[in-house]
Amino acid sequence: MNASKGGSAPLRAAPADCAGEAGARKDLPTAWPGIIERYRRYLPVTDKTPVVTLLEGNTPLLPAPRLAEATDPSLSIYLKCEGFNPTGSFKDRGMTLAMSKAVEAGSRAVICASTGNTSASAAAFAARAGLRAFVMVPRGSVALGKLSQAAIHGARVLMVEGTFDQALDIVRRIAESHPVTLVNSVNPFRLEGQKTGAFEVVDQLGRAPDYHLIPVGNAGNITAYWRGYREYHRDGKIDSLPRMVGFQAAGAAPMYENRIIEEPRTVATAIKIGNPASWGPALEAVKDSRGWIDIVTDEEILRAYRMLAREEGIFMEPASAATVAGLVKIVKAGRIESGSTLVLTLTGHGLKDPETALESASRPTSVPASLDAVLAQLGL
Ligand code: F0G
Repeated sequence: MNASKGGSAPLRAAPADCAGEAGARKDLPTAWPGIIERYRRYLPVTDKTPVVTLLEGNTPLLPAPRLAEATDPSLSIYLKCEGFNPTGSFKDRGMTLAMSKAVEAGSRAVICASTGNTSASAAAFAARAGLRAFVMVPRGSVALGKLSQAAIHGARVLMVEGTFDQALDIVRRIAESHPVTLVNSVNPFRLEGQKTGAFEVVDQLGRAPDYHLIPVGNAGNITAYWRGYREYHRDGKIDSLPRMVGFQAAGAAPMYENRIIEEPRTVATAIKIGNPASWGPALEAVKDSRGWIDIVTDEEILRAYRMLAREEGIFMEPASAATVAGLVKIVKAGRIESGSTLVLTLTGHGLKDPETALESASRPTSVPASLDAVLAQLGL
């Protein structure tokens, strides 16, 4: 099966025997086949589906002992580091499936609105598949790294003078009336792919966590994780389910406030969304799991962002830090039972947003090229 144009090598990464529980091949212990092959039997694909993959998934589940020390040492805290995906965010899980199904359906072009990461992922997977990509981003609200990704992968990038929500409305209407496939998370294949995040957490942890903490923007990922946990539960792979706790930025908290926010504001541009597309299903996930939606301020987000970088060695973008800020907040508020196991999804890599990093840390100092000048600065 070959989804690329021009007869280049097949895109399928590994033989079908990699699917299901077997995981990577025993003779190639480091070979990871991408999420479609790994979790094929849980996904809406057939032998006829051309697999468009960048070998996404298999991201680290990293213990965070310092974070436990700083909050409640009785907790076992793990970070699901989704910034280690091929384009630097969790979006690649959904995009491999959405793009494979688009190719299967004979699509020649894809379109999306994005706060940045979806556009980066769509652009990369479209390049891989040989499809055109059109992406709309809210002008002035997209981190530099994400914009550079969409551009270099050859997408047609339009900066919409409005909010993400307005851009999403426009692309939905275009996709209804033009021969382009919508690859926002309203495309059902996106969430199907993203549910594999929950599968991996269970496969890595050997159980379900007691709590799963996750940032909420368009509310697709929290919906997808809950679906993944439920499917593994139904399949007998876990005997308990986590409480899903979602965090919105205080200035962009439509679900928390139960109203549409016309002009969302937050330093965490990835989740600067005022009317989430998956609002309903996300609320259901929260209710079914006995979880809740909470908020964190920009100040709390930036404090967690720096703490994570300096004390755990993990550089994640501000939207991901919202989850860590949320953890600090809810542990302090006594909402987490002691001794619990928690997983936090860190959704995107810190390099996505170098400007916020430089604004949040001390600036490099210029020195003359002399030993004395350098030593004087180092204070050794
Ligand atoms: N974290 C990051 C880094 C994101 O890019 C997003 C969403 C979220 C969290 C929230 O996930 O929307 O499923 O609730 N980014 C989308 C985009 C909206 O266009 O890249 P969600």
